[in-house]
Amino acid sequence: MSVVPEWTLAFSGYDPADERRREALCTTGNGYVATRGAWAGAVAGDHHYPGTYLAGYYNRLTDTVDELGIENESLVNVPDWLPLTVAIGDGEWWTPDNCEVLEYDLELNARRGVLTRRFHLRDRAGRELRGVERRFVSMADPHLAGQTLTVTVVNWSGRLRIGSAVHGNVTNSGVERYRKLADHHLTDFSPTVADDSLLVTATTSQSRHRVSIGTRAVASHNGSLLDDWITRTDRTSASAEIPVEVTAGDVVSVEKVAAIHGSRDPGISEPQLATELALDTAPCFCDLLERHVLAWSQLWRRFEVELEETYDGTLPALRLNIFHLLQSVSPHSIDADAGVPARGLHGEAYRGHVFWDELFVFPVLTIRMPELTRALLCYRHRRLPAARLAARQIGLPGAMYPWQSGSDGREESQRVHLNPMSGRWTEDASFRQRHVGLAVAYTMWQYVETTGDLEFLVDRGAEVIVEVARFFAHLAQYDAARDRYVIKGVVGPDEFHTSYPGRRDPGIDNNAYTNVMAVWLFGTAARTLDRLPAWRRTELTESLGLRQEERNHWDELTRRMYVPFHDGVISQFEGYEQLTELDWPRYRSTYGDIRRLDRILEAEGHDVAAYQVSKQADVLMLLYLLPRRDLHDLMARLGYPLSAEIIRKTVEYYLGRTCHGSSLSAIVHAWGLATLDADRALTFLEQALHSDAGDAQHTGTTAEGIHLAAMAGSADLVQRCFTGLTTTNDVLGFRPRWPAKLGTLRMVLRYRGHRLVAEVSSTAVTVTVDPEPGPAIEVRCYGHARSLRPGDTHTWAAHD
Ligand code: BGC
Repeated sequence: MSVVPEWTLAFSGYDPADERRREALCTTGNGYVATRGAWAGAVAGDHHYPGTYLAGYYNRLTDTVDELGIENESLVNVPDWLPLTVAIGDGEWWTPDNCEVLEYDLELNARRGVLTRRFHLRDRAGRELRGVERRFVSMADPHLAGQTLTVTVVNWSGRLRIGSAVHGNVTNSGVERYRKLADHHLTDFSPTVADDSLLVTATTSQSRHRVSIGTRAVASHNGSLLDDWITRTDRTSASAEIPVEVTAGDVVSVEKVAAIHGSRDPGISEPQLATELALDTAPCFCDLLERHVLAWSQLWRRFEVELEETYDGTLPALRLNIFHLLQSVSPHSIDADAGVPARGLHGEAYRGHVFWDELFVFPVLTIRMPELTRALLCYRHRRLPAARLAARQIGLPGAMYPWQSGSDGREESQRVHLNPMSGRWTEDASFRQRHVGLAVAYTMWQYVETTGDLEFLVDRGAEVIVEVARFFAHLAQYDAARDRYVIKGVVGPDEFHTSYPGRRDPGIDNNAYTNVMAVWLFGTAARTLDRLPAWRRTELTESLGLRQEERNHWDELTRRMYVPFHDGVISQFEGYEQLTELDWPRYRSTYGDIRRLDRILEAEGHDVAAYQVSKQADVLMLLYLLPRRDLHDLMARLGYPLSAEIIRKTVEYYLGRTCHGSSLSAIVHAWGLATLDADRALTFLEQALHSDAGDAQHTGTTAEGIHLAAMAGSADLVQRCFTGLTTTNDVLGFRPRWPAKLGTLRMVLRYRGHRLVAEVSSTAVTVTVDPEPGPAIEVRCYGHARSLRPGDTHTWAAHD
């Protein structure tokens, strides 16, 4: 594998063992639909997993595990529109598995959003074909995709068959661990064929979403059109083939356009009609491609990040990561009422659920495409009733957002989890990560801070922020012995500690991250109410029944919340320091890759909860989310003054005890280290940048879906962490700790209605505001503020 400068991800040679990871990395998508980069016509199996997913299309299935009834909601794998294959005579369709592979190259062009596969195959009879397949999922027309296949006959004569199909016989079987669970989501198939088009309409079994996928193909032989498609349907699929007599040197090609609609789409009558119309009216492949490339080039103009000198492949990796971000959520997601899928729009891992990962994703979007963040936040606001219900079900007021969210905002976390190392099902208590609600409120506040979109706060954000604050205020109980408030029985970001060893009650107590962020939220909820116009404050106070005593109580909590410490460091939770220290060198030398110490220890008959071992950054999340001064102020108000020494020791302490079992960990550690140890911060940046594409040993889980938060988070490290970019108090600020190794950064931002270009190096920052009319903006660099008007450019030198 190589990330070839500047825009291309390339794989050379066929490696069946790596094929599924490549499929994930070579996904083409547009935020509405995404299709894995599988061989066109591959059947799901050990080496291939074709999959197509639509944002927000979930379905629920039930199973029984150990006599326990469980229900899972999954993002549905819909009919496969890719099959476009060749065969000789009456033989089977060619694949790299049933032929000798003479050449096989995959190339994903992230600038154009086009995947190209070149192959040279030989069958058992020595007959060879060369081929090139190209495909894209249109960024211009979200319901369309295009594909071409050109094959050249190398050394034989005879009958070649070209085949195209829409396969409805698909399941959600992409994740090994879930294989024992139900996976057939589609029913009521209606495959149809007409002239040159194939169409399959199917319905999800429980959620009753209807999805219609069709293709239209044009084939030619040495430039002359072929039009004798032989079509057929079976229960779930529609297919077509054309036989053609060829001799060596002949070229046969097919151009295919696919159309996809579903019943959740706005602006349609019903999906099949919409798909038929789209197929009838879609432009030809070339025009479609041109529009698609234009749409990507416009997106890239907004998301452009340039590094003048590339450092160890940083720039191409950055681009690939931003590319995946925009395939997973894009302007086409705006009407989808879907959240940010943690594993991209093509990954079945975590069943396509939405976690807190948007926390790492929004900073990249908001400063470039605020309307997209807004739409994704609306996904959360629409599910406020579900969050309120969840809180009521555990006897609390306010709103409790689910750790894993899908269609309607109820809790979708699994209750049992299979450890593939031991084959045992274990209880999964990760749903106790109540902190997800803090992330929802935080992202809403951040969005408003960055954009100044007070309307959002008025119409939606304030309601969520207040309701989540209310929930946490009641979750906190008064501990008379300490004369402080405590939060018991939760799980922090580190999912390894879902209980205390030997304690029956689930959860851990006083997770520092949860407690401190709850305090942040109490302050923010009060600020939110103050920021609302009086009429809206009155409305909200009336409809939420908010009393002054409640607000007083929030204030009390900002002074009396308990935060655990030990030996001069912030404790991850109460009692963390009493857990057993792990023999890290022994585990490293025995297992090599120890990212999943939970599974390793369980397979050995131990419980990870008994050890001072963290899956990912937990306390250090505070340094990631809160500006240092805010954190100091907040802790000082609580009566826990923080010193630089406490911060340094805390970072070191958890660095030594974290196995980075989550790809989010590298982002947060880079952030925590940026001011303390730039070189180590860069190492974490590299890890985050390459965590999916760089996993040549494929020890990770990329095959089941890329890690969207790590991808977006790596871009955020470059744009915010190292530049010190902030957007608080109506000021655009920079305080660079820019590593000279990274050269000069040039990025385009949108801030308060202006488009501007920021250039950051280790010696200076230059900001240029586009000449479009509009009010001046306040920009502060290295502590020096300046008001910039449209058309202005200003440079701040590092040592001014
Ligand atoms: C991490 C979570 C994350 C989830 C989805 C888990 O492995 O521990 O923090 O939200 O993956 O990305």
